[in-house]
Amino acid sequence: MNNFKICDKIILIDKLNYKGNQVDIYLSTKKDINLYDLEKLCDSVGWVRRPFRKVKTAIEHSFLIISLFHVQNNSNVLIGFARATSDHAFNATIWDVVIHPDFQGKGLGKTLMVQIIQHLRSADITTITLFADPQVVTFYKNLGFILDPDGVRGMFWYPR
Ligand SMILES: CC(C)(COP(=O)(O)OP(=O)(O)OC[C@H]1O[C@@H](n2cnc3c(N)ncnc32)[C@H](O)[C@@H]1OP(=O)(O)O)[C@@H](O)C(=O)NCCC(=O)NCCS
Repeated sequence: MNNFKICDKIILIDKLNYKGNQVDIYLSTKKDINLYDLEKLCDSVGWVRRPFRKVKTAIEHSFLIISLFHVQNNSNVLIGFARATSDHAFNATIWDVVIHPDFQGKGLGKTLMVQIIQHLRSADITTITLFADPQVVTFYKNLGFILDPDGVRGMFWYPR
């Protein structure tokens, strides 16, 4: 059972400077995310496209979804996303951490990660894992993640 409340729209950052304008950044943990917007966000960082049907299922079955957005002409513009899967007791794994390139380098990735960790801790999850692309290992290390604790090695099995 999640101990955190699903929130529709809470203000995360008041008046972030974006291209000379001040924009408010909101956070939502609702799962009804627009999949086209998410695909656009993932495209913006060059990720390989995944089938919509599978992304929809993955989101539905995730323990926690966090999306970041700002509001433009009365519409939400998705600029950040992360999700976590979990056994709801001990472990959670964070996936799909992304901030739109226009909004990178402004502290949003760090804020997004802090939020996801806080939400998981509020559900009493003790072990949080993730798989870091080589170019972001330092980003995660600075947030307290450690490589190979106690000699543990991540191992993978893929269909041949
Ligand atoms: C990785 C990512 C989420 C970081 O988001 P961001 O909003 O640019 O990061 P922030 O501005 O919050 O940076 C927080 C800190 O991490 C540092 N940082 C950011 N990206 C980094 C990187 N790739 N490597 C090392 N440090 C990094 C920043 O310098 C900053 O340091 P500071 O706290 O000392 O000032 C973002 O670059 C991104 O979406 N990348 C493409 C997708 C991706 O690679 N996701 C991870 C998949 S495992």
